[in-house]
Amino acid sequence: MLNKHFSLLANPYTGNNLSKENDSLVDVVTGESFAIKNNIPSLLREEKVTGLNRLYQKRYDWIAYIYDFIMLTLSPLFGGNKVFKNIAEIIKIKSGDRVLETSVGTGIEIKNLVDHNKIGDFYGMDISYGMLKKCRQNSKNWKIDIKLVQANAEDIPFKDECFDVVFHIGGINFFNNKEKAILEMIRVAKPGARIYIGDETVKQIEKQPGFISRFYQKPDKETYAPPLKMIPRNMINVKNQFLWKGKVYMISFQKPA
Ligand SMILES: C[S@@+](CC[C@H](N)C(=O)[O-])C[C@H]1O[C@@H](n2cnc3c(N)ncnc32)[C@H](O)[C@@H]1O
Repeated sequence: MLNKHFSLLANPYTGNNLSKENDSLVDVVTGESFAIKNNIPSLLREEKVTGLNRLYQKRYDWIAYIYDFIMLTLSPLFGGNKVFKNIAEIIKIKSGDRVLETSVGTGIEIKNLVDHNKIGDFYGMDISYGMLKKCRQNSKNWKIDIKLVQANAEDIPFKDECFDVVFHIGGINFFNNKEKAILEMIRVAKPGARIYIGDETVKQIEKQPGFISRFYQKPDKETYAPPLKMIPRNMINVKNQFLWKGKVYMISFQKPA
């Protein structure tokens, strides 16, 4: 990512450009330095990762070891291949599109898109370095180029208007500030870009076995409602679809051209 694409990155807290110095990216104005580990720049100020963001960052760091196994074995509980197929049908990617997934996890949504012939120039960001390390390994095995960065979805470290498609699946229910994360997705989207946000509904949380539900927050309707009210009024073609008998929502909209 660094050599070819690093010009798209910016310090998420100042908006300033970054320059590469040895194993770091350095804010060209303030001198703030961000480490690059295993070719994954970590554009996070750890002290800014608080509350639920911190809680789930830590949880996913250890879940990373078993996440793919869980998804494979328990996927029927999550709607199985049908939900994956539905998601791939909804997300529109044109050849040559630059595509960002916020909360990319281990990369399985991108793999799913590629399996359904949705080929883009893929970027993934996540708050959990553990998940990203696994994603890096997966992407090598799958031979899919995914350019990775560790960051908070509420402070996306890309410059304005970089992406043709920005999507997010499965993390937003956990965020401290969903609205900020949505506004960030819109900021990094090009005019006319397509944006998608999906997660589980309260119906899914109520139905899942006890050992899984301990992982989630209590099933209140507000937390798991599709965040439609947070989509700014000037966005166009706003649509929500419920997948898998109402257990997953998938919002799509477009940034005006
Ligand atoms: C259920 S996993 C979904 C991963 C992937 N999108 C998928 O569908 O398999 C949720 C992901 O959200 C990430 N996450 C949680 N809070 C985040 C935040 N504030 N910013 C970025 N990613 C976050 C977690 O680290 C985890 O990888």
